[in-house]
Amino acid sequence: MLESSEVVGEYREDISEKTLSESSVSMQSDDLYRNWRRVSLSSDFFGKYYSYFFPYQEKALKTVSRDEAENSISFVLNELVENTAKYSNTGDKSVQIYVRLLDNELLFDVSNFVDEKVAGSFIALAREIINNDPEELYMKRLEKNIEDEKGDSGLGYLTLINDYKVTLGFKFDRVDRDVVQVTVQAKMKYKEA
Ligand SMILES: Nc1ncnc2c1ncn2[C@@H]1O[C@H](COP(=O)(O)OP(=O)(O)OP(=O)(O)O)[C@@H](O)[C@H]1O
Ligand SMILES: [Mg+2]
Repeated sequence: MLESSEVVGEYREDISEKTLSESSVSMQSDDLYRNWRRVSLSSDFFGKYYSYFFPYQEKALKTVSRDEAENSISFVLNELVENTAKYSNTGDKSVQIYVRLLDNELLFDVSNFVDEKVAGSFIALAREIINNDPEELYMKRLEKNIEDEKGDSGLGYLTLINDYKVTLGFKFDRVDRDVVQVTVQAKMKYKEA
């Protein structure tokens, strides 16, 4: 049984440093589910929007380039937003994307609402990801997917960690007897500290 609030991994809440830019969008998970292109549309929007903070390739010495920023932001958000469309299962269909640009990193917070049961298995999965070697988990998962072909691949978060060098944090807030708000925070370093 979930306490009123629980965090798995590292979750940054009180940001003391200067925020260079912040933006957010609220949507409905069933809209996303109804037409999947809304997932990539919203992710691509933030990718393009934030890419303008980054220099062109030839000037990107200690930071990522504009193209790289656009692609990574879009890919990372796409994974997080897709999950809200797939797993939201309560009356509250709200999905919130919140993006913060800090001095050395980008913070993405994506939240949605699920019931107690889904929250429970998500907490277990989050703990498994945080407490194990992500590359090993990835290989295990691949093998498992070959054995039983059905179901979700379970590679989304592991791909973000392994290939996009993203750090993940998970927050679970009980809002009602059978309603839990889940927030996934992805942290992406874009500059050498
Ligand atoms: N926003 C969310 N709300 C509730 N449960 C979630 C959410 N995101 C992920 N989960 C749970 O965590 C599991 C792992 O998510 P992940 O994105 O890594 O893989 P997947 O969605 O199963 O497959 P893939 O992303 O490879 O298509 C999911 O199968 C689901 O059980
Ligand atoms: Mg996924």
